[in-house]
Amino acid sequence: MLYIGNFKMNIPTDDYIDSLIKLDKKGNEVGIALPFPYIYQYAYALNNADIVVGAQNVTEAVIKESTGEVSAEMLKGVGAEFVLVGHSERKKLRGETMSKIREKCEQALSKNLKVVLCVGESREDYENGNTSKVLEKQLREILNSLKNITYDNFIIAYEPIWAIGTGLIPTADDIEIVVRHIKSMTGKWAKCELRVLYGGSCKASNIKLIKCAEGIDGLMIGDACQDVKELQKIINA
Ligand code: PGA
Repeated sequence: MLYIGNFKMNIPTDDYIDSLIKLDKKGNEVGIALPFPYIYQYAYALNNADIVVGAQNVTEAVIKESTGEVSAEMLKGVGAEFVLVGHSERKKLRGETMSKIREKCEQALSKNLKVVLCVGESREDYENGNTSKVLEKQLREILNSLKNITYDNFIIAYEPIWAIGTGLIPTADDIEIVVRHIKSMTGKWAKCELRVLYGGSCKASNIKLIKCAEGIDGLMIGDACQDVKELQKIINA
């Protein structure tokens, strides 16, 4: 399984790196998406612990006259190996559009930065049974024009918008159906089916239920990743 922590805009405690170094990965892959200022320090410190470090955003801008932006090349240069693209918080709070998201993916891939593309439906779409239709549209808009997507460089995170930070989760059956559907769709654009993570309110207390969903290749963990003991319980479950 692949476990990705989304640290969001939190400030790590002084002992966070040391606790992560001691994390027992139990043979799984672990990555942590950090705010820009921490990437270099963490990538260096976690190298021996075999925990990869990523960013939570990358610019789509290509011209140098882009004050305040951070490029894929810079992220690679400070040790980031992946980037989250299209997180629903960025869509909602930063007005990120699908075309920007596609450009961000292009920029990341062109610099060998792996992409974790977030997709998800609203509560309303979930309740009206529109999840598959909505996700298909989101994936088509991004993946249709992207080239050279592979199993290794492109991962999908299925994150129902209504599950992020709310404590609510879909049933394992629902997750299973969606994950299967996403995988079969991604087969159209990549040479193989891509890995699909589930994200949204993953916690030690509900993780056994989520892990019942067959076919998930990993988890994206937001708030709970700030506490390494909690993260360890999620991995152990
Ligand atoms: P959460 O966040 O685990 O706090 O719900 C998930 C995410 O934002 O990716």
